[in-house]
Amino acid sequence: MSKRILAGFIAAAAAVGGIFFLIAGCASAGGAGGGKEVVVYQENFESYGGGWRPRGDASISVVSGPANSGDKSLYVTNRSKTHHGAIYPFTALKPGQTYRIAAWVMFNDDSAAAQTVNISVQQVVEGQGEVYINIGGDRLPKGEWIYLEGEYTVPRSRYESEVGVYFESQYKSDENTLPSDLFSFYVDDIVITRLPPLPPPEVETDIPALYEFFAKDFPLGAALENAGYLSPSSNYHSLIRHFNVLVLGNGMKQDAMQPSEGRFVWSQGDALTDFAAKNNKLVRGHTLVWHQQVPGWFFQGSGPGGLASKEQLYGRMEKHIKTVVGHYKGKINTWDVVNEVIDEDGSLRDNRYHQIVGSHEYIANAFRWAHEADPDALLCINDFSIEASSAKQDGFVNLIQTLLDEGVPVHVAGIQAHINLSWPTVADLRNTIRRLAALGVKVQITELDVSIYASGADSRRSIDRETLLEQAFKYRALFDMFREEAREGNLDMVVVWGLTDIESWLNNYPVRGRTDYPLFFGKDMKAKPAYWVMVDPSRMPIQLKRIDATRADHRITNIQDAAWNLVSPRVIADKQGNRYGWFKVMWDDNSIYAMVHAENRDASGKVRFFIEPRNQKTEELSDAAFNREYSLSDAVSAGQGLTLLAAIPFEGKLEARVGFDLRLEYGDTLRSWNDFDNTQEKASLNYGTINLRNLPRVTYAKRGTVDLSARAARDLDPAWNAATPVPMTVQTMGYTEEGSRFRVMWDSSYLYVLAEVVDPVLDARSTIVHEQDTVEVFIDQNNGKTKIYEQDDGQYRVSFRNAASFNGGDSSRFKSRTMIIPGGYRVEMAMPLYAITPAAGALLGFDVQINDAANGARSGIRNWANDTNMGYQDTSDFGLLVLTQ
Ligand code: XIL
Repeated sequence: MSKRILAGFIAAAAAVGGIFFLIAGCASAGGAGGGKEVVVYQENFESYGGGWRPRGDASISVVSGPANSGDKSLYVTNRSKTHHGAIYPFTALKPGQTYRIAAWVMFNDDSAAAQTVNISVQQVVEGQGEVYINIGGDRLPKGEWIYLEGEYTVPRSRYESEVGVYFESQYKSDENTLPSDLFSFYVDDIVITRLPPLPPPEVETDIPALYEFFAKDFPLGAALENAGYLSPSSNYHSLIRHFNVLVLGNGMKQDAMQPSEGRFVWSQGDALTDFAAKNNKLVRGHTLVWHQQVPGWFFQGSGPGGLASKEQLYGRMEKHIKTVVGHYKGKINTWDVVNEVIDEDGSLRDNRYHQIVGSHEYIANAFRWAHEADPDALLCINDFSIEASSAKQDGFVNLIQTLLDEGVPVHVAGIQAHINLSWPTVADLRNTIRRLAALGVKVQITELDVSIYASGADSRRSIDRETLLEQAFKYRALFDMFREEAREGNLDMVVVWGLTDIESWLNNYPVRGRTDYPLFFGKDMKAKPAYWVMVDPSRMPIQLKRIDATRADHRITNIQDAAWNLVSPRVIADKQGNRYGWFKVMWDDNSIYAMVHAENRDASGKVRFFIEPRNQKTEELSDAAFNREYSLSDAVSAGQGLTLLAAIPFEGKLEARVGFDLRLEYGDTLRSWNDFDNTQEKASLNYGTINLRNLPRVTYAKRGTVDLSARAARDLDPAWNAATPVPMTVQTMGYTEEGSRFRVMWDSSYLYVLAEVVDPVLDARSTIVHEQDTVEVFIDQNNGKTKIYEQDDGQYRVSFRNAASFNGGDSSRFKSRTMIIPGGYRVEMAMPLYAITPAAGALLGFDVQINDAANGARSGIRNWANDTNMGYQDTSDFGLLVLTQ
């Protein structure tokens, strides 16, 4: 979502015969700094002032015809990479100033139903080299002009501050770029506005301390980037009151504590422990043994290759640990004794300690030395990427078990929890906490942050309201779970890795300079929705729901139309979850169809629909927004309530996103689907969104139970005979053999899948499970089509050797078996249906995928439905599975 609240600057659009005109320019808005917005650049290509250049191989030209206003625009074509496009090297944008860069864009070739165009900025920045920042972007339905905007603050730099503003499509690596990704597009009505300076960041001192909300269940901590924050003169100081556990982000690591042999530096740790004692806070000590931020001398010595010998290393470790732990005896609640000693594949990390010692003995010794120095301190083994089940998690668990079996004093398993909006699911993290607690150790979340990026490959972007809300709800779901696990005695402490988004380490990791927004307090130091969702949900902005509308291939004239059977109902409920009804949506070229069921039988009620054709979420309604009223007296009575069909006149395009809300009205009593404040007549800020989409691929599952244990794998249960094989024809990546197919069945507790894979050469050489010959099943039990995995979503993966791995879902009751068959292999899986009550007619999001490996790497992916290769985190492109009798 690139569209923001346009305070003062209202880009109103009027639809005239499908072409949209920018009819209002800009007005000034006094910011808190008292400044004004000033337009510094404007180009509508009618009397073109020049300056735009091709980026990469693209060709650009001013053309007549397609235009957002007037009759000319800039045409960008002949691109051979996704980041090719049109660029303008501005020298007029000044360091330290913030600009809003806005434009209208359109594509109209046959490459796809919708394409994404981004506004980006490139600049040489001191200390970072050339940076590329995606400041805004959106999906454009074919043939429609779409408004894009983003903000950029020009950094202060000693370099010539030339800022290249450019238009490109969504980044894809060369191997993954398809010809359709190199579509041509048009740009028009570019406006760059200088924004008044923001007031300096200032901490809110009158809001409740966050830790108090969890005090009954667990202490809540934060990492301080450095001990300077403890000083009342630091602007971070007044945020410390939100936490009752403190840890130094860097100040007690090996390089900080003992930079040269025998020279111990106590200043930072002492400052922390003194502050904590005076202010009644707990302290975590981070960390005694790590492979990073270790001074060079620690590993140097007389051994082979100039490495320390085992004796030398042990001597140094023992001295370091005993001196440091001894110095802080009685002042540290928990010590991270060893940090990150497990590798991705579950083996011991090949770090210097392991190279010198050759076994886990160095870990055991570290714990023993620490325990000798402070027998009352809790001793923790801490690691990352163990938050969901994986080979690494297995290795972590096995190591703890081994240490405990050997009598090593390990008291705490630390889960770092550097996570993101889509990974892991709350259920996966809960399972991890329980698995670790079952070992008999305490469990702590030690370095929590929730990145807005799913991986290092995501390009930098600015934050928008929708993402902030998504993050808030993720935090809320996590902390609800933490509270439950703490009450069960499974979780002991939660610590976040930083105070504000300003100083978070994620601004530079894993990508230097890629600004992130992972914490409770923002770049302005103010409490984010992630804070308010815990403290006072009534102060939370309303969450924006996003659903799909299915395209109908004929006019829908009644609620009995069979097309409705392939559309999932969406609940109409208030904030507290009280239900008032449900609705379904479809669309065609002339209408949006809604079937609304009101549980209240009051036929004097009304249903009002609110439509914002461009999905602008604005404080003032655009001229294009409209609402329509239908009377429930026209409804048919169905079940306990009334069901109404509405055909709302509307011209839509495939993949367009439309602002949408509906409201049940009974006199003064209003029940809205999205805007609980019922301000729809004034603002579209709280409308939900519908995506106009095609009907996805559909298949049907017969009812029947398959017994995966009764007979040998070679004898298929005759129950399978009732299911029709479904061919898998979608080639998502690389090459896979034709002919693979699957069958699917269901009963009251399981979904069963039998996949027969054509693959003459079987390969499980890679240690990465999805790079082995495997079959995956994706299930979205409530067909919610969400951008992130919810509790009902799961991905189940089984190799031809019957090794299973999971992402979400319920692995505890999962069953599978496999067999090698002529020309390939066969996989049978039983996946628990735990989030729905399965019944004939139910709709589930569903897909089956084959990962084909060759020479130890994935060489092809074949799917039944979804070719995006994003199914592991995004359920919106799954196919549809209909349960039948
Ligand atoms: C990070 C600090 O926050 C950064 O300031 C520093 O540059 C690198 O280390 N896992 C850990 C922490 O255990 O020590 C790391 O802290 C973040 C990842």
